[in-house]
Amino acid sequence: MSRKKISIIGAGNVGATCAHWLAEKEIADIVMLDIVEGLAAGKALDLYEASPVARFDVKITGTCDYADTAESDIVIITSGIGRRPGMSRDDLLKTNAEIVASVTSSVVAQSPNAILIVVSNPLDVMTYVAGKVSGLPKNRVMGMAGILDTARYRSFIAEALNVSVCDISAMLLGGHGDDMVPLPRYTTVSGIPVTELLDQATLENIVDRARKGGIEIVNLLKTGSAFYAPAAAAAEMAESILKDKKRILPCCAWCDREYGAGGAFVGVPVILGANGVQKVIELQFTPQEKSLFAESLAHVNQMVTTVDKMI
Ligand code: NAI
Ligand code: 2OP
Repeated sequence: MSRKKISIIGAGNVGATCAHWLAEKEIADIVMLDIVEGLAAGKALDLYEASPVARFDVKITGTCDYADTAESDIVIITSGIGRRPGMSRDDLLKTNAEIVASVTSSVVAQSPNAILIVVSNPLDVMTYVAGKVSGLPKNRVMGMAGILDTARYRSFIAEALNVSVCDISAMLLGGHGDDMVPLPRYTTVSGIPVTELLDQATLENIVDRARKGGIEIVNLLKTGSAFYAPAAAAAEMAESILKDKKRILPCCAWCDREYGAGGAFVGVPVILGANGVQKVIELQFTPQEKSLFAESLAHVNQMVTTVDKMI
């Protein structure tokens, strides 16, 4: 049986780090593609040469040619520009919409049955672009953001409680922006509701820090944005799909009637398995959560209206 194939478009910080996390999982051969001549090939070769030491048996190649991505099972799209200090994710809209649209059409021409995982920002809108341009069934197109946002939130909770990060389970909804909606009500520490372990003020501070988690890293790095955690999150999605694990994860997924979205890609809990998004799980909102989600969705929809005129 031949191995599965994952192509990663964009061999920058997120793309290359994602290749690294995926190689260690040994779930697929990996093709990295970048528009910059030699960049993907150089990083892929370097990573492959690490394999005898790190002990992973997968083929890793780099290219500028979409023909090498043919018949991919999963394609992870990380191409595009990132944030610099003073920039919001929305500032990336026009440039990245053009990049994601052209990349998507090249990808699906080679891999018409692939599942697409979008990482480029602004995430929910770029997932919409990939969905529209690819014409793929909606369950085969999704975006990575919620896993990253909850990972930040979970790590801050573990730190505050001085317990293992492995024991924190959390859910978050909404678009990948400062108006994302973390849900302390659905956060547990080894099954114990977090609200029994942390006071409201501490939790509110953690929610606020998680919301601003992206810019905290941008302000520290100054020349780019986060990549270790985002790349690990995208790799987790690919693993759940290729192993048909049916993980319940917060992902940017197509919601038709779910959450009253009326047809939008937005962050919601989903079951991720062999066919991609197998189901969107609907949670019961409190009135406050409902209004926060509606606000976040309205922000995503507003950018989608803008981008629709560009693609
Ligand atoms: P980066 O600048 O390190 O890498 C981007 C790569 O894309 C570069 O190597 C560039 O040459 C390549 N590229 C640009 N246009 C291309 C094209 N037409 N075809 C192929 N490759 C192309 O940026 P980084 O840090 O890897 O971030 C990538 C994107 O992911 C950014 O838009 C960033 O905002 C986003 N991001 C999203 C996150 C999320 O939670 N959804 C988290 C972190 C980053
Ligand atoms: C982040 O949250 C840049 O969206 C990216 O780190």
